Amino acid sequence: MSPQPQKAVGSPLSRVEGRLKVTGRADYAVDHDIPGAVHAVVVDSSIALGRITGMDTSAAESYPGVLKVITHLNAPRLVYRDYPGTNPRGRRLRAFQDDQVLFFGQPVAVVVATTIEAAQHAASLVEVSYESRQSTTDLTGRPGNVIGNYARGDAEAAFAAADVRLERRFDLARNHHNPLEPHATTARWDGEKLTLWDKTQGVNLTRNEVCAVFDIPPENVRVISPFVGGGFGSGLRTWPHVIIAALAAREVGLPVKLALSRRQMYFTVGHRPRYDYRLRLGADRGGRVTAMLHEPSYETSNHESFWEATLALGQMLYNVPNVSQVLRNVPLDINTPLWMRGPGYSSTAFCIEVAMDELAHELGVDPVELRLRNEPTRDPSTGQAFSTRRLTECFRTGAREFGWSRRNPKPRSTRDGDWLIGTGVATGCYDTWLGQAQAHARLDANGTAAVQSATSDAGPGTYTSMTQLAADALGLAVREVEFRLGDTTMPVAPPQGSSQTMASVGSAVQDTCDKLRQQAIRLAVGDQRSPLHGVNPDDVVVIGGRLQVKDKPARGETYRQLFARNNLTHLEANGSYTPQADSPYSMYGYSAVFAEVGVDARLGLVRVRRILSVFDVGRVISPKLADSQALGGMIGGIGMALLEHTVTDHRDGRIVNANLADYLVPVNADIRDLRAIYLDGDDRRADPIGVKGLAELVKVGVAPAIANAVFHATGRRVHELPITAEALL
Ligand code: MOS
Repeated sequence: MSPQPQKAVGSPLSRVEGRLKVTGRADYAVDHDIPGAVHAVVVDSSIALGRITGMDTSAAESYPGVLKVITHLNAPRLVYRDYPGTNPRGRRLRAFQDDQVLFFGQPVAVVVATTIEAAQHAASLVEVSYESRQSTTDLTGRPGNVIGNYARGDAEAAFAAADVRLERRFDLARNHHNPLEPHATTARWDGEKLTLWDKTQGVNLTRNEVCAVFDIPPENVRVISPFVGGGFGSGLRTWPHVIIAALAAREVGLPVKLALSRRQMYFTVGHRPRYDYRLRLGADRGGRVTAMLHEPSYETSNHESFWEATLALGQMLYNVPNVSQVLRNVPLDINTPLWMRGPGYSSTAFCIEVAMDELAHELGVDPVELRLRNEPTRDPSTGQAFSTRRLTECFRTGAREFGWSRRNPKPRSTRDGDWLIGTGVATGCYDTWLGQAQAHARLDANGTAAVQSATSDAGPGTYTSMTQLAADALGLAVREVEFRLGDTTMPVAPPQGSSQTMASVGSAVQDTCDKLRQQAIRLAVGDQRSPLHGVNPDDVVVIGGRLQVKDKPARGETYRQLFARNNLTHLEANGSYTPQADSPYSMYGYSAVFAEVGVDARLGLVRVRRILSVFDVGRVISPKLADSQALGGMIGGIGMALLEHTVTDHRDGRIVNANLADYLVPVNADIRDLRAIYLDGDDRRADPIGVKGLAELVKVGVAPAIANAVFHATGRRVHELPITAEALL
């Protein structure tokens, strides 16, 4: 088959659904207009550990408009079946199934009322009494459970024998995802059948969990999620409020809308866990790292064992002969964490990349040069060839564009008035995760197409990038193609996590649309009345909705003509993508991140003046939306480095700053000159469309680049995140 010219792919399209979003017509989970829907508000626990001893719901129940108050005392027993899925190991929180309180903010009741105002007020009237026990919410000094380890060479011996030794301990704050749209669900039962309009990064995740909890077959549950106002990972599992919405709808016999408040977003939808990370690093005088010893510990809940990818970077980022890793999680009386942008990698990269900067400083080697000296030619953890690894090129390009050579390596050597100026660099890396995906496409007689897959668009621009791919594969204009997503009635796709969507769903869309185009071409070449009759199908391409001989474009006809003559209303095709089971390649995306900061010498305030990231991510399908991702990741990195910190009062397990006034995130005034560069090219060893994934990678490496710039500006090395003014004074 002849490759199609790529016109839409690679062009800087704006979001195809942008108009719907800015005109308020995008149908988010609780925006969906359902006649007769009532409102549910969750009541959450004010203790972190203990049991409920009393529940007075009388005032709430007699409040006008209230239909029902559901607690563990009157809730029906639910099945909560285990199933092979993505929930962490352990026993998940069971909504209203007993009197136990496992963490602060746990749902203990739900009030259902005819208006949101009545439900909110009545929720405040529910009186809960507790028998409270002393909770443990601080991981400091806790041994934890070993959940992973790795060794190559003899890291202890190599460390002991190293010319230069660094031993560091990092304390990385807990962060919350804070998507703009709070988690929300609308639930409606029609007899045995349940429909959920849910904020989720994967409609099939929601369906699987709901089926397991209520013990109902998948054909009785439909989950719809066309628009998601950000996720950053918090929508990668189905949290209790979804179950509560479905339960409430069943109990009152009416459709129910349930949205978490911003405050509740800090309690029950996961967080990036706090890390206590001990790292030892040994090197020779030439700047070759000879030993790395990692001992990371992160938070988990007492009821579930959270896992994230904390070990990969330490094994494959640099060519280190001796590595040892012991990974622990520490059970606490908290809600279970969940993957947050660049999960595992963002935290690990901070520790490794700050340590590398310290090593560079100690040895008097340029930090870029130090990384190049430790660049592997094959994946040192598996011996595999890299599908592509162009990190050296990222650093060279970045150094040139950033003006790195003008840097005076001496810390505290550059001033701009009251501001100490510094620059720093770090590596970013994230694995190329691929998942099985299916799609369906339909081409209509009027020359338009509809393509669908049950994926999500939690912000990266999936609607747009899939439309671009499909348009080129079908030889149509972008406006002639509609891509649909977010519905369990559509062909199955993986959740939108781990940056797998573009590569995986994109490859499925490519396959589907290639098949559909080929069908039309075969129809034409086999049709005696077609100008293409008898032509080799491999010589036909479709451009502007017109099938034509590749080298003789005058010979051809349009889809419309072909369909009309054959009395066809439409053609359709199913396609899929399955990742290669035993790929011989090590597949990762890479970045070199350069940052410049100013630090107010009197106040310790840090301002990020500019960030430049250079990416090796394979092919970029949608450059404008890639930029949107990349800049978002840099802004997230500024937050992680300087601002974001979920504060717990360890005396009673209460989360102190559960709101966007006290949980700090970067605002426009914090964001100055951000720039992303993508190395040209693609990675066909990774997947058919040559994409390595971008969404997680963009955050990895940003926080350490900023921290290293802060050191260069001030001479102060901070091993705690966020880096606060107090730490620099
Ligand atoms: Mo991403 S943390 O897998 O949404």
